[in-house]
Amino acid sequence: MSTQTERDIEIAAAEILQGGLVAIPTETVYGLAADATNNEAVARIFEAKGRPQFNPLIVHVRDIEMAARYAEFAPLACKLADHFWPGPLTIVAPRRADSALSLLVSAGLDTIGLRAPNHAVAQALLRATGRPLAAPSANISGGVSPTTADHVLHSLGGRVDRILDGGPCQIGVESTIVRVHEDHIFLLRPGGVSRAEIERAIGIKLAKPPQTDKPQAPGMLASHYAPSVSIRLNAKQAEEGEAFLGFGEIDDLSAPLAKNLSQTGDLREAAANLFAHLRAMDAECVQLGLSTITAAPIPEEGLGEAINDRLRRAAAPRV
Ligand code: TXA
Ligand code: MG
Repeated sequence: MSTQTERDIEIAAAEILQGGLVAIPTETVYGLAADATNNEAVARIFEAKGRPQFNPLIVHVRDIEMAARYAEFAPLACKLADHFWPGPLTIVAPRRADSALSLLVSAGLDTIGLRAPNHAVAQALLRATGRPLAAPSANISGGVSPTTADHVLHSLGGRVDRILDGGPCQIGVESTIVRVHEDHIFLLRPGGVSRAEIERAIGIKLAKPPQTDKPQAPGMLASHYAPSVSIRLNAKQAEEGEAFLGFGEIDDLSAPLAKNLSQTGDLREAAANLFAHLRAMDAECVQLGLSTITAAPIPEEGLGEAINDRLRRAAAPRV
């Protein structure tokens, strides 16, 4: 299990059971985990991230059976979980009346977002604690999500009790979030499972969420995932004073700073590199006195939908 030993997991589990905060690797991004049944522990997550209280948190579980203890998992939700768990799909379902989860995790909504992470360290911690783990991405609210333990150390270092290192995240963008209602599946946030994969597996077209779903995901706030410099999208080359983030053959090696998300134009590789490249370029831009990261166009297919979603939010005017 990557670099963590059983002893590290035991210590981390004891910290979680005492209400502590532990940063954990998942296959998508690193999460800031706490016992989802402990109000004070969940409150500490919001405090550490500087997150607005109205944003609900994803609860991580081992499997469908554990999910069904906290939320009403109708047949369609079960079918999705059966197919995609463990994996990068978060399912939003009605909260059970007898749910033991802290009310803070759902931030006043009558639904819960649940997922089973596909990562040995996260699963080991779930087993060792026996608790559902509330875990948003382990970054200061609004910033770039962490895909290595080092990223977490830089943004939240002093604010967590422990960081479990599981190496770089394989997928690199957050989970896809869907809400299931009767026989509809609403796409709340594109992510690590593509729209096409879900539609192919389940045989139902993903629908646009009704207006009432809008404020529910900060991943949905216009400005999010933002580095400190500005972002300009869909460009073929950098202008004076800009760095260039290329994709495939669209690259600008004459820029003072250039990186490529995937030289071969592979969207999976691009997703895995996205946040790490943004962080590294952000820091270098500041050093070199560059004001903007300019990004090449990314095809809106497969994981490209999630990559474009994150880039658009990173580029949006900051509030
Ligand atoms: O891949 C991921 O999803 C990562 C890893 C750590 O699992 N987590 C993550 O969490 O991205 P966070 O908190 O950064 O984003 C969770 C999103 C938020 O946009 C939140 O509003 C939405 O999930 N969410 C959580 N519960 C919800 C609910 N009941 N209804 C609608 N959206 C919900
Ligand atoms: Mg986040």
